[in-house]
Order: sequence, then C-alpha cells, then structure tokens
Amino acid sequence: MSAHVTKKRVAILISGRGSNMVSLIEAARAPDYPAEIVLVLSNRPDAAGLTRAREAGIPARAVDHKVYPNRTAFDAALQKELDAAGIELIVLAGFMRILTDAFVEAWAGRMINIHPSLLPLFKGTHTHERAITAGVRLHGCTVHYVVPELDAGPIVAQAAVPVLPGDDADALAARVIVQEHRLYPAALALIAGGGAVLEGGRVRLGEAERDAGAALLSL
Ligand code: GRF
Repeated sequence: MSAHVTKKRVAILISGRGSNMVSLIEAARAPDYPAEIVLVLSNRPDAAGLTRAREAGIPARAVDHKVYPNRTAFDAALQKELDAAGIELIVLAGFMRILTDAFVEAWAGRMINIHPSLLPLFKGTHTHERAITAGVRLHGCTVHYVVPELDAGPIVAQAAVPVLPGDDADALAARVIVQEHRLYPAALALIAGGGAVLEGGRVRLGEAERDAGAALLSL
C-alpha cells in the first residue's frame, strides 16, 4: 500500500475511559493506515477519553444526551457533528447509549462496534462474569457491524482468549482488553482498506486478508 492511500474519515464515539479509542488513534498514525481519526464524540461530558483524545491532538467534543428531550433529538445532534466533519465511518468504542433505528439504518454498513465476548454468545452487559458462570473455556471479543438489534450485526473479526482456573471477571476482562486493543485497529483497517466487504448480511474477507483474519485468533 502506498503512502498516498486515500484515508477514510473516521469518528470514534465513546462514553468512558477510551482505551480502545487510544489504540485506534495510535494505529492510525501509521502512514499506510487506511483510515484517519478526525473526530471523537462522547455522550458524557466527563468521559476520561475526551481528555485523552485531545492530548493526542484529535478534536473531541461532548454531545451530552441529558440536554436533549429524546433519542431522536440526541441522534440528530450527533449527525450534525458527523456531517460537519465529513465522517465516512463511525467506530463505537465503549459507547453506552442506544442509537435510534433510524440513525443505525442511515449508517448501515458504515458503523462498527467492539463487544467483549465471542458473539453471538453473551450479548449485552457483564459478559466476563457470564462467561465464567457458563463455564466456557474460550472467551474473547468481536468487532461487528451495527444493526438495530443489539450486538447482532455481521461479524468482521474476533479474537479469543482462554478462561483459566481461578479467573474472576476482572482477570478475564484484563486478558480480553489486550486483544481488543489489537483486534479493533486490525478490523478497522480491513474495512477502511476494502479487505473486508459486507455481502448478503455477512462479511467476506479478500484473498489477501484471509491469513491476516485468521491470525487474529490468539490464545
Ligand atoms: C470495552 O470492553 C468494549 O469491548 C466495550 O466497552 C469497553 C470499552 O472500554 N464495548 P474502553 O472505553 O475502550 O477502555
């Protein structure tokens, strides 16, 4: 890939500490990375990630959901920020606000999320605790396209970790987040670079990307 690659303009939406956001910002500094992070938005003005984004030189703004009368008005405020920045792809990274179906449909095929489980297992919250309770031997994280149904969209990439004897939710979360920080930049590169294509409700990897996709499985 040449250094003259046209980079996709990406906004990252956060609600909290933003550790995945930081890993994406760092990866996107590489000259041949196919996406640039041009905006960070948080629905919580006090999100630590906003400060981290600004420290990294990325424009970062709060769109406080509390000042809007309903979800439609909040989503319209988000859309306005995204339009103003010429955003082509949205990356959700610990964004804890439900988006309206209309917003999700408007961004269909252009919005991804990371979820801390091997989907379709353990949709929703408390995934690490639930994995331990279920007694699974493998756990991990998934990058998927966002669809109106929560944590249900086409899967782009996954990484797996073992569940070890004696693990509690915190120990398991710590093992998974290391993989999230590898997986998300790799998955965004696949999408922005055209190596992963949405087709008939599933994600097809290009020939050259199949090995790279498989290599993300790490135990
Ligand atoms: C991550 O575990 C992610 O999978 C989930 O929310 C958490 C966000 O963490 N969706 P961070 O804000 O990126 O540190």
